[in-house]
Amino acid sequence: MDCIREAMLGSLVGGGRFTAECHALLRQAVPLAIPYLTTSCTDALELAALALDLRPGDEVVMPSWTFPSSANAFALRGAVPVLVDVDPGTLDIDPAAAAGAVTARTRAVLCVHYAGVGCDMDALVPMCRDRGIALIEDAAQAYGAFHRDRPLGGIGDLGAFSFHGTKNVSCGEGGALIVARDELLPRVEIAWEKGTNRLRFLRGKTERYQWLDLGSSFLPSELSAALLAAQLRDAGTVTALRRRAWARYDILLREAASPLLKPLAVPAYARHNGHIFAVRLRQAEWRKPVISALAAAGVEARSHYEPLHQSPAGRRLCRTAGALAATEAAAPCLLRLPLDAHITAEEQECVMGILLDTLRQLSRA
Ligand SMILES: Cc1ncc(COP(=O)(O)O)c(C=O)c1O
Repeated sequence: MDCIREAMLGSLVGGGRFTAECHALLRQAVPLAIPYLTTSCTDALELAALALDLRPGDEVVMPSWTFPSSANAFALRGAVPVLVDVDPGTLDIDPAAAAGAVTARTRAVLCVHYAGVGCDMDALVPMCRDRGIALIEDAAQAYGAFHRDRPLGGIGDLGAFSFHGTKNVSCGEGGALIVARDELLPRVEIAWEKGTNRLRFLRGKTERYQWLDLGSSFLPSELSAALLAAQLRDAGTVTALRRRAWARYDILLREAASPLLKPLAVPAYARHNGHIFAVRLRQAEWRKPVISALAAAGVEARSHYEPLHQSPAGRRLCRTAGALAATEAAAPCLLRLPLDAHITAEEQECVMGILLDTLRQLSRA
């Protein structure tokens, strides 16, 4: 609350002392890249599309298993999201499917670090570099997660974080674009400041600022930045607590050794941030009764994305490349269990108990 009081005493206009503090904390978390605070991850992705100067007919390859914002940001520029399949274990983009979808019109590959478990960057980074296309990390769920010793969000050319209320670190609605390729910085600076060179003006590099290119209003107010700064300072503790809770679910599931469900895979190169603990039920028709049984006990378990290629806008604005069998198989079976920094071991045992009992009953019916 002190941070809110302090923000209220000053100007609430974005770009002030708390924005600077968030930028400093993000630079510590993701070294060698420049962060720009935004009002959401959606905004950060739209800023990425402007940074890459995407035009109608350009293509961006991405998984169908993602949130609409991943595709919307590029469709807004007239670019075509090309939807590919995911790895069936992690539900992260399948690098071979992504490589197979690249055409002469491809400008970028967007990878989504689903559940805060990093994509196969060892495959994606050289694949994009060799073809001269940009790699964008949709790291909406991945703040505080790593690929080996490198923080997610800062490995590709551009990375987008979400600080939405559902994320590990949050200010209600917030995000950041992380720019790891220096030559993109001038375009990002202008687009971030509503299409003007106001940042150069503030640095005393030009006498007045002018409208130079496309841009929008991406900066959050200092009130949001103050809240976020406080959360970013505590991010290490929150991540550790969430990882502990994630590990407890994982142990319970392994001990149960039930053939009726399985967890998502975590490859050896991925150090996740405990954002989501999801299981795949053996049969899709079990999900609804399982959610109801848990809800009857006051437990909120949730499904997740509708694959974009099966959504009305996805069918209109995107195209697919290759089969999407892993996406289509996983989507109706996926169940997210409740997880936050303060969930107790007893609560988790109770969730797992109801889940397993219900599945046993359903499998016998
Ligand atoms: C993969 C992915 N990208 C982007 C977003 C959008 O994030 P925001 O709500 O911060 O705009 C989400 C939202 O959860 C998401 O899951």
